[in-house]
Amino acid sequence: MTMTVHQTAPFAGQKPGTSGLRKKTKVFMQEHFLENFIQATFDAVGGVGGKTLVLGGDGRFFGQEASQTILKMAAANGAARVIVGRNAWLSTPAASNLIRVRKTDGGIILSASHNPGGIEEDFGVKYNAENGGPAPESITSKIYEITETISEYKKMDVDDVNLDELGEVDLGGMTVEVIDPVSAYADMMEGIFDFDALKAMFANGFKMRMDSMCAITGPYAVEIFENRLGADKGTVTHAVPLPDFGGMHPDPNPTWAHELMDELMGTNAPAFGAASDGDGDRNMILGAGTYVSPSDSLAVIAANAQLVPAYAQGLKGVARSMPTSAAVDRVAEALGVDCFETPTGWKFFGNLMDAGRVSLCGEESFGTGSDHVREKDGLWAVLMWLNIIAKRGQTVSEILADHFARFGRNYYSRHDYEALPTEQAEGMLADLRDRLKELPGREVCGLIVSNADEFSYTDPVDGSVSSGQGFRILFSGGSRVVLRLSGTGTEGATLRVYLERYVPGPDGLTEDPQEALGPIIAATEEIVGITATTGRAKPDVIT
Ligand code: G1P
Ligand code: ZN
Repeated sequence: MTMTVHQTAPFAGQKPGTSGLRKKTKVFMQEHFLENFIQATFDAVGGVGGKTLVLGGDGRFFGQEASQTILKMAAANGAARVIVGRNAWLSTPAASNLIRVRKTDGGIILSASHNPGGIEEDFGVKYNAENGGPAPESITSKIYEITETISEYKKMDVDDVNLDELGEVDLGGMTVEVIDPVSAYADMMEGIFDFDALKAMFANGFKMRMDSMCAITGPYAVEIFENRLGADKGTVTHAVPLPDFGGMHPDPNPTWAHELMDELMGTNAPAFGAASDGDGDRNMILGAGTYVSPSDSLAVIAANAQLVPAYAQGLKGVARSMPTSAAVDRVAEALGVDCFETPTGWKFFGNLMDAGRVSLCGEESFGTGSDHVREKDGLWAVLMWLNIIAKRGQTVSEILADHFARFGRNYYSRHDYEALPTEQAEGMLADLRDRLKELPGREVCGLIVSNADEFSYTDPVDGSVSSGQGFRILFSGGSRVVLRLSGTGTEGATLRVYLERYVPGPDGLTEDPQEALGPIIAATEEIVGITATTGRAKPDVIT
């Protein structure tokens, strides 16, 4: 068994974000590419000599091969142990949990989240730190710097490890521990939720559908809902993770989870439906005939969290990303707990959780989570809803109706304009920036602008400042529009327009958010001129 130092040319411009490095699969398959990035990651964290790491991913194409490479490199770099999920499977929240409960030094997650998988699609690699959360920017920028100058990497010349079999094997002095990817996560869920109440609910005939979209949550959902809680066999659909996700786009929203939408909006719908994404951190919640927007989901979860054993003592605080609706703010106010408004992206929540300032957090982009791990967690959100339903004995639509009656309703929708010419999109927002100061006091389409600014965030824990985080135009009465450019889009610029209209309870205006948001959509066009500038009559995606 020998360790070889391979010569590799540096590659420039492969900047990892907090969600790691995401590229086309074929880019990752190029000679030395993955190796270069992994060696840079090991070097950026001060080497992995003597360390223990967690490794796994969402089952997408190239995950197994990448895992073999990473194991051989970890061994060559002197790691003591790598804990890897069988088949190289681990959902992102399960990996976060393992890093924490096994007290490892960090972990590597192989996923491109909700993006399609396959040789022609996407792959990704991300490093999580010892708190179980995505590596902070200080590490990701170091990785990037190293990838630009790196000239060699270390890898053992050994046979592949059999990742189908549970147990420990030696790989050049390093222990590879192949574990069941599901059990530790399912045990954690059992510790958070009232499984007895949930079992009783299923025993009484409660029906649900969980669409795992041929991605990683399938085995987790079957174990938790069908095996441990007694839901009907077949409750979980698309339950086997496939390398190409069966050709599905594993993004849990009404557009991509359309089979689930059709079932829940149709006749004979089960009482509850949910979907999750490629790596299991996103979720969508539905009731029979009812869609729950992610912002409302966060607010309902916060308002009812005390019905769930792990949160029975109350919440430390809550947090939402700035573009997420203010529905949860009203709940926090009623509960008398802090509500933090952070820039888009999960990393800002991690600091607040590590400091014990918040218990729950969420984003409008189908991400909800709590301090049980340091990633968003799709199945956790599903279980929160189920636990709340079991304790309240109400349907999803009744729970929502009660919530709106008590707190009022924040009608909400996100409009995405994709693949805009970058200069055009940036120019439009630069122009808006120049006119922000003139907006307050103006009447537009029957609405009065009460304030307009560009969001800047000072982290209450470490004092760091993140500026330029999106434009907010507030209208009197609690309505607003937020505009920002996507940080994850791959082609040109993606403009995200977040529309929100607050209507005090108890009676809402209409069931159709687009109708309720009509005046705000009109005012946005008047102020920003999206159609006028881009020539696009309507958004590409509405959620
Ligand atoms: C998108 C979402 C954001 C989420 C991120 C990673 O980022 O909007 O909420 O944290 O994906 O999942 P964006 O493309 O808007 O920058
Ligand atoms: Zn994801």
